[in-house]
Amino acid sequence: MVITNIWVMMHDENVYPDPFVFNPERFTGTNPQADPRECVFCICAGQHLAETSLWIQMVLPLATVTISKAVDEDGKTIEPKVEFTTAIVSHVEPFQYQITLRSLRNLALMRQILPDTV
Ligand code: HEM
Repeated sequence: MVITNIWVMMHDENVYPDPFVFNPERFTGTNPQADPRECVFCICAGQHLAETSLWIQMVLPLATVTISKAVDEDGKTIEPKVEFTTAIVSHVEPFQYQITLRSLRNLALMRQILPDTV
């Protein structure tokens, strides 16, 4: 069995300069960098289902809340340290953040989705 290291391929400086910089523009314009989906999904039969499900899971919260950096008790922004675990599946290390409702109209909706937390 061969397990490919997709993380390394997605952080290859020769393909994606400054790979740790969040730069969605790298995939647009007249000279875009390689589409990561060709490598990440390879021959995946569930690509369209996976992409559509992830899209819905990401845009629903983003449509109703603002996610921002946390602030300390003096109101100073806490810069998150972006660190990842190392294992076959790499996860982002926990960090502090802040979630605020965009409008009170969304409160009822959030209570429906997260009844024990809002
Ligand atoms: C983000 C989510 C997903 C990623 C990153 C992903 C990635 C991959 C990759 C890299 C392969 C090729 C593995 C190999 O080299 O043999 C693969 C195969 C496959 N995936 Fe996914 N997958 C995802 C979600 C799904 C979902 C949701 C389904 C089904 C509902 C699915 C069904 C399959 C099937 C059936 C294959 C085997 C295809 C074949 O050998 O012809 N995948 N996937």
